[in-house]
Amino acid sequence: MSKTYNVAVIPGDGIGPEVVEQGLRVLERIAALEGFTARPTRFPFGAEHYLKTQEVLPDAAFEEIKGHDAILLGAIGDPRVQVGFLEFGIIARLRFGLDLYVNLRPVKLYAAHLCPLKDKTPEQVDFVVVRENTEDAYAGMYGFFKKGTPDEIATQEMLFTRKGTERVIRYAFELARRRGKDRKLTLVDKANAVRAMDLWTRTFEEVGREYPDITREHAYIDAATMWCVKNPEWFDTVVTSNMFGDILTDLAAMIQGGLGIAASGNIHPGRVSLFEPIHGSAPKHAGKGVANPIATIMAVQMMLDYLGEARGAQRIEEAVAGLLRSRKLPSLGSDSGLSTRQVGDLVLESLEQVKVTA
Ligand code: IPM
Ligand code: MG
Repeated sequence: MSKTYNVAVIPGDGIGPEVVEQGLRVLERIAALEGFTARPTRFPFGAEHYLKTQEVLPDAAFEEIKGHDAILLGAIGDPRVQVGFLEFGIIARLRFGLDLYVNLRPVKLYAAHLCPLKDKTPEQVDFVVVRENTEDAYAGMYGFFKKGTPDEIATQEMLFTRKGTERVIRYAFELARRRGKDRKLTLVDKANAVRAMDLWTRTFEEVGREYPDITREHAYIDAATMWCVKNPEWFDTVVTSNMFGDILTDLAAMIQGGLGIAASGNIHPGRVSLFEPIHGSAPKHAGKGVANPIATIMAVQMMLDYLGEARGAQRIEEAVAGLLRSRKLPSLGSDSGLSTRQVGDLVLESLEQVKVTA
């Protein structure tokens, strides 16, 4: 019997629904090619639904989503709703509620002409960032004292636990081993100024002793952003805290061709996990059919890889890489001259041509 995957789909706001539609077309095609069944169930959560019903993400729906094999999310964020409200109510709720402690962000350049760095080749831009996804300033421990007065004080805790730090570092060591590239893991922190990050330094050393085959490297976050531009080939696998990972991966997305291709997985190994493009809802492009769906298609690629459909994942990666190398898809922005659906068509066409080896 063929396998069936139940996928909870949250298209969300702005360009989310448009790009998710193309991602689902690709998923359906891959399922047919590889002989499995993908059953998407759409959930309406996002700004439109909130403004109509005052509902953000009800408990019953959260439980229902939890019962799926994976989650595909488009984008959340809308100028009509207060900044951060839906991001916390939906994205953070899923990341924290499902304990998705790894935010996995591959940084891979598929064609040299897409890189804004001079003379960098695909061989030199090929690393992966493992961002901690459930702690740090994102834990939501903040407050205001004497709010609105000249004496106002605002605080927000950068919270790190030993368990939370250890599990994500361990995941990263395992990943560095699985990638088998340079067998190198770089810890990115700011322990010279944020002294609490000494916990990361110690945990990295301790866990690292269990992985004698993996070289341990270290960079402070400020230097890491410099290396990312100057010598991206220096990175293989990177592990970092939630907020530094957030910042570093937007920069890293640019050197792989932009937010139009960058995807991420919010993962708890062995449990229902969530896949999404890194770009946001881009309200100014919404509804025009010009948004580039490649990042969402790559999120589907990551989802298949996570579900154990390695061949299907490889097919998508090869198809996208082929399109970019051949310049049939000339750019990754909304200015490619192609509509969202036309890019989806190109990927479907290219899928038929790739040879898989996995
Ligand atoms: C990301 C985004 C989110 C984050 C926002 C939308 C809260 O920037 O996924 O990187 O900061 O994690
Ligand atoms: Mg971000």
